[in-house]
Amino acid sequence: MLKDNHNRTVNYLRLAVTDRCNLRCFYCMPEEGINFVEKKELLSYEELEQLITIFAELGVSKVRITGGEPFVRKGLMEFLEKLVNIPGITNVPITTNGTTTRKHLNDLVKLGINSFNLSLDTLDKKRFFDITRRDYFDEVYACMEEMIDRKLNVKLNAVVMKDKNIEDILTMVALTKDKDIAVRFIEEMPFNGDKVHYQQLEWNYIKILDFISNEFSNIEKIPDPLFSTSVNYRIKGFKGSFGIIPAYSRNFCGTCNRLRMTPKGLIKTCLYDSGVFNLRDILRSGANKAQIKTAILEAVGNRAKDGFEAERKNRHGNQSFESMASIGG
Ligand code: 5AD
Ligand code: SF4
Repeated sequence: MLKDNHNRTVNYLRLAVTDRCNLRCFYCMPEEGINFVEKKELLSYEELEQLITIFAELGVSKVRITGGEPFVRKGLMEFLEKLVNIPGITNVPITTNGTTTRKHLNDLVKLGINSFNLSLDTLDKKRFFDITRRDYFDEVYACMEEMIDRKLNVKLNAVVMKDKNIEDILTMVALTKDKDIAVRFIEEMPFNGDKVHYQQLEWNYIKILDFISNEFSNIEKIPDPLFSTSVNYRIKGFKGSFGIIPAYSRNFCGTCNRLRMTPKGLIKTCLYDSGVFNLRDILRSGANKAQIKTAILEAVGNRAKDGFEAERKNRHGNQSFESMASIGG
C-alpha cells in the first residue's frame, strides 16, 4: 500500500486526459484566448498505459478519467479498454460533461465502467447556456436519464455560484425524489483561468445546507463512504441523495487518498499545489521503472498536510491563472 508522510493511504489517481472541452463553463475556462496543450506535449495513450501500470504496482487501484472533457480526445475508448485491463486497476469512474457520452454507454458498460460524475450545474436550459456558453442541455439531460435507466451509478456535480444557479440547488434536490442519483453541490473554487480571484466564498457548505434546510425540513444525514469528499444527506423518503463538497473550505484533507496527473504529465499531490514534478519529462528522458517509482514515492512522501499548506507552499500567489480544465477537478 502506498502511504504518504501523514500516514494517508494513496490509492486513487485522477487522470486528466485532455485540457480541451466543447463547453466553456465560465468558472472553469475563459470564453476565448485559451492556449490548449499541443498534441506532442500530451502524454500519449502508450505513455499513460506505461505510467498507470507503475502506479498500479505501487498500490493505486482507482483511476478517474477526467479532463477537460475526456470524450473530446480521440481514441479514448480504445485507451479505456487497455486501462481496465491493467493488473491492479479495479475501478475506472469517469467525470464527463455528458455532451457526447451517451453514444458510448454500451461500450463503456461492456468494459465494466459504470460510475459517472456528470457535470451539470442547472436544470434550466437557458441558465445552462449562460453558464456553459453552449447549447447542449437537452443532450446532457438525456444522457443522465439513460444512465439512470441503465442503473449506472450517477452523480451530478453542480458548482454552486452566487447570482448564477442558487435556485437550482432546490430543483436539483427535488430531482432526487424520484431518481436514484446523488447530486453533489460543490463550493466554487478560484480556478477559472481568469485573473479575478475572491478572498472569501459566500456560498460555502454551511450556507448551502442552510438554504436546503429552509425548504426541506426532513433532511437526514447518511453515512459518507470511505475517502468521500462530500458530506451526504437524504430527504426522508426520496430515492436519491445529495451531498456537499467543501472544495473551497477544504475540511476533507485528513482522509485525502488521491494524486492528480495533468494532460502534460504534471503530478499534483493536492488540488491546491501547482504541481510537484513532471512525470512525462522523467519518462521521456529515458528513466527506467525503478527511477519512476522513486520519483512518485518521493512526491507521495512529501505531501502537504492539507490544501491550505499546499497553497501556501506552492502557489506563490498566482493560483488564479490556472484553469480547472487542466486539473480535472
Ligand atoms: N470550482 C468548483 N468546481 C469546479 N469544476 C470545474 N471548475 C470548478 C471550479 N472553479 C468541477 C466541474 C466538474 C469537475 C471536474 O470540476 O463541475 O464537475
Ligand atoms: Fe468543460 Fe467541465 Fe470545464 Fe465545463 S467545467 S468547460 S464541462 S471541462
